[in-house]
Amino acid sequence: MDNAVTPSYVIAIDGPSGSGKSSTSRGVADRLGLRYLDTGAMFRAMTWAMLDAGVDVSDAAAVAAHAGTPVLVSGTDPLAPTITVDGVDVAEEIRSEPVTAAVSPVSAVPEVRARLLELQRAIIGSGSIVVEGRDIGSVVAPDARVKVYLTADPAARAARRAAEEGGSDLAATQESLLSRDRIDSARTTAPLTMPEGAVHIDTTDFSLDEVIGQVVALVEAAEAVS
Ligand code: DC
Repeated sequence: MDNAVTPSYVIAIDGPSGSGKSSTSRGVADRLGLRYLDTGAMFRAMTWAMLDAGVDVSDAAAVAAHAGTPVLVSGTDPLAPTITVDGVDVAEEIRSEPVTAAVSPVSAVPEVRARLLELQRAIIGSGSIVVEGRDIGSVVAPDARVKVYLTADPAARAARRAAEEGGSDLAATQESLLSRDRIDSARTTAPLTMPEGAVHIDTTDFSLDEVIGQVVALVEAAEAVS
């Protein structure tokens, strides 16, 4: 019998909102029997906690002062991911308009990033996992076995997001996505960027199943050489 233990590994999936990150990451984790971590949900939960505590999210010093307070817990089942703040389930609230509007400025505050980086690394631990975000291949897990950078045309991204949100206004959704892209890409700490060694997949003209298949093929190819 083969006693070899498969070493644990990270699959890092980065890209802007609406590029297909969440559906792809969950699908890949499900197909490969791995855990899944949505780091965007963690930044959203931190933002929800700031708003709930009445912190002025445009005041970076106030945000920094509160960054260590909320207790965040993320569940890593790809079929049923969960997120709580101080024991309260905030899965729905973190997708609300006020959170979406405030999440990029809150995410730009270094103390917020440092706190969540620590939590993310603790969750990643030593087991295999698919992690999605903006800085996973560059900062959180630079040694990831596979790094993927997903993009899609802004119109396709807005259409996907608007459909998820139950048919919200397309032009407004596209403007909100592009505005978050600008803040996420321009921040000093861990900006959204295509990490070194990442495979770029433009998902505009592919179905979800096709993109999942492409990422699974990359993982299998990497496994074959590791
Ligand atoms: O993936 P999402 O749209 O739910 O992410 C929400 C915001 O969280 C995104 O606009 C920027 C921030 N974020 C981040 O700064 N770093 C990450 N690794 C993930 C998300």
